[in-house]
Amino acid sequence: MAHQTSNRLTVLCVMLTMSLTSLCFAAANTVTVNADKKIATINPNIYGHFAEHLGGCIYEGIWVGPDSDIPNVRGIRKDVVQALKKIKPPVIRWPGGCFADSYHWRDGIGPCDQRPKTVNVHWGRVIENNHFGTHEFFDFCEQVGTAPMIAANVGSGTPQELKDWLEYLNFNGDSTLANLRAQNGHPEPFNLRYLCIGNENWGCGGSMDPSQYARLYRLFSEYCHFPPKEGFYRIASGPSDDNYTWTKDFFEEISGRRANGRNRIGRIEAFDMHYYTGAKSYGTATEYTTDQFYGLLAKCMHVEELIDKHWQIMAEYDPGHSVKLGVCEWGTWHQAMPGTNRKFLRQQNAVRDALVAALTLNIFNQNCDKIGMANIAQTINVLQCMILTKGPRMITTPTYHVFEMYAPHQGADALQCDVTTSQIHFTDRNNTQNTIPNVTASCSRKADTITLSLVNTHASKEAVVAINFQNLENARLKSWRTLATADIHAHNTFQNPNAVKPTAVALPASPMPTVTLPPASVNILTYTTK
Ligand code: AHR
Repeated sequence: MAHQTSNRLTVLCVMLTMSLTSLCFAAANTVTVNADKKIATINPNIYGHFAEHLGGCIYEGIWVGPDSDIPNVRGIRKDVVQALKKIKPPVIRWPGGCFADSYHWRDGIGPCDQRPKTVNVHWGRVIENNHFGTHEFFDFCEQVGTAPMIAANVGSGTPQELKDWLEYLNFNGDSTLANLRAQNGHPEPFNLRYLCIGNENWGCGGSMDPSQYARLYRLFSEYCHFPPKEGFYRIASGPSDDNYTWTKDFFEEISGRRANGRNRIGRIEAFDMHYYTGAKSYGTATEYTTDQFYGLLAKCMHVEELIDKHWQIMAEYDPGHSVKLGVCEWGTWHQAMPGTNRKFLRQQNAVRDALVAALTLNIFNQNCDKIGMANIAQTINVLQCMILTKGPRMITTPTYHVFEMYAPHQGADALQCDVTTSQIHFTDRNNTQNTIPNVTASCSRKADTITLSLVNTHASKEAVVAINFQNLENARLKSWRTLATADIHAHNTFQNPNAVKPTAVALPASPMPTVTLPPASVNILTYTTK
């Protein structure tokens, strides 16, 4: 009898211990990666950048001129080029933005001292001396090791002007324009591939309606001669945010359905939606409440709904999806940094911006079957930049580090990644109740390497995440890097340039069933299957 009681007690104790153990170690969040389910290959161009003639982006940020005391190669800052190389930008978009539809390329070629002085009507009416033009942009791209992407002027330009620019850039023969290119120092064609035909043509690019723009798109794209070997990658100006009417009416016209009921779409590879995350109600770049922290993150995640809905409309006209979605401008848009020209859009970049970047890139990775191009705005000194400069000095931002950490996703195969997570409840603007997921993820595979990105959005609590790989038995965690700080307002300054930077997490000797992510953190876990 006594023996039986002690047995029952032992069983009870074991059961209690087991349930306590599972209680203690139960992960609130689960990430399940299915190695057999490939979404698509992540186009590296999803990690693209954008540099406009705006504030300190081009002048000061990239171009200091060959006579500057700031170390440069042919007028282009060495420190900036070195820093950009490390994040492997696949493509950089130029010269705008709004600036593009007022830009006339002939102003930016030939000897610098003979170039005209024009007025930058969009960005503070500053004098544009045109010292940074076509040759300087292509030189910059070559130094960085990135592909150039040009936004052509549709609003105030002509099809002839675009045709001439493309001949100047790409023609390999004995024409006057190709000879002029050689005379200006570049005998070989530049071989431009990525071409936006206009920018925000519903607004600063000409205040057009969608069918008017679609007709102009057809006209301008007709004159895009001189393609490079791989062909042009032509991008049409799409909507901002949830302007679904723009998408519908553009495709109605461009498909020919409006005119003759036919459905034939040609000469267009991507359709460019812009989405910025910001509003005064979310505080400033560095000062915000915890609710405002969550509010901004929730706003950036809204991009997934926009992708889905625009994609569904596109499917009505282009069921085979020959046209991909571009997001050629995205990122945070805060109030301008105190003491700066409001029109220069210079802002600080805190750990909250790093989370916006990582959450957005997780969404882009997971939707890489739809997205062919994306460009964060903007590279240097403007909006959600990678780099801030002050005279000869330069610092990198938390967002820069996210791009460096996420670089292994470029060109990898995105794997289906299901996340079960709790929701964080918060009070959003206008006193409404809102939620965001505690954990988001994306995962990709290139040869033997699996890259898993995990974001913990909680401002103050760690997140325990169980990671399961399906159809993959031998994934071994090789490294884990985290971008995390104790303070959700942390940012890099010229006094403290490394306040926010990634660090390596020590790996335990035995395999981990769960990982514990620090609060407000971006994490890259690298597994090997070798
Ligand atoms: O990136 C700043 C501006 O935002 C761009 O010039 C314009 O296209 C958009 O409205």
